[in-house]
Amino acid sequence: MNGKLSRSNLEGFIAYCRESSALIERASERSHSLIESFKQVSVDQSSDRRCEFDLLDIVSHTVSTLRPMLRTTSHKVEIDIPEGIIIDSFPGPLEQIITNLITNSITHAFPDREAGTMRICARHTEHHFTVSFEDDGVGISDDIKLRIFDPFFTTRAGLGGSGIGMYTVYNLVTTLYGGTIEIDGRLGRGAKIIAKFPIVQRKAA
Ligand SMILES: Nc1ncnc2c1ncn2[C@@H]1O[C@H](COP(=O)(O)OP(=O)(O)OP(=O)(O)O)[C@@H](O)[C@H]1O
Ligand SMILES: [Mg+2]
Repeated sequence: MNGKLSRSNLEGFIAYCRESSALIERASERSHSLIESFKQVSVDQSSDRRCEFDLLDIVSHTVSTLRPMLRTTSHKVEIDIPEGIIIDSFPGPLEQIITNLITNSITHAFPDREAGTMRICARHTEHHFTVSFEDDGVGISDDIKLRIFDPFFTTRAGLGGSGIGMYTVYNLVTTLYGGTIEIDGRLGRGAKIIAKFPIVQRKAA
């Protein structure tokens, strides 16, 4: 080295700086959105906010808080929910249910696939609304179906799984909302989770 800076060294350094600042930007966007969603969750939980809300708004909002995580993959989430399904209930736990289902698909459904698809669909009748969540991943075996709602049941023990996600989903749907939940779909044909809720919450939370 003769103490001179060559053009290619400088260009390399500039490219490196650009890459680093893009990384920092992505990380801070992700932290920001995580903090926002934690704040939202704690507000929802501490105030037990019950209100009238539009189902499509809540689901779209939840999916957008998960965008930073989705952006690190090529998976996509499709929403098929008509506008104007108005629910008189607790929006916070519904967000948690959708979050757990999406996180599960990302974690378990696509081990060898770069681009998987999740689909959230909802329909309503006078007194109920049904939300179905499906992915086109590896699916769920009959064996796992039998135990999926058990606390601490996970196929990723020691790999970060605690087996609380679907147990929580089950409890929120059945106990908090007074609804029902079932697992459909077969091994190799994607997972499908169907939950049915009353449109007006009757139980005290
Ligand atoms: N979309 C899916 N596709 C395939 N398998 C799934 C899917 N969702 C859940 N599972 C299976 O069900 C098990 C239980 O899921 P659950 O969310 O309760 O636990 P976990 O995801 O392993 O851990 P945690 O959610 O507590 O971090 C998972 O370990 C996985 O085997
Ligand atoms: Mg989980």
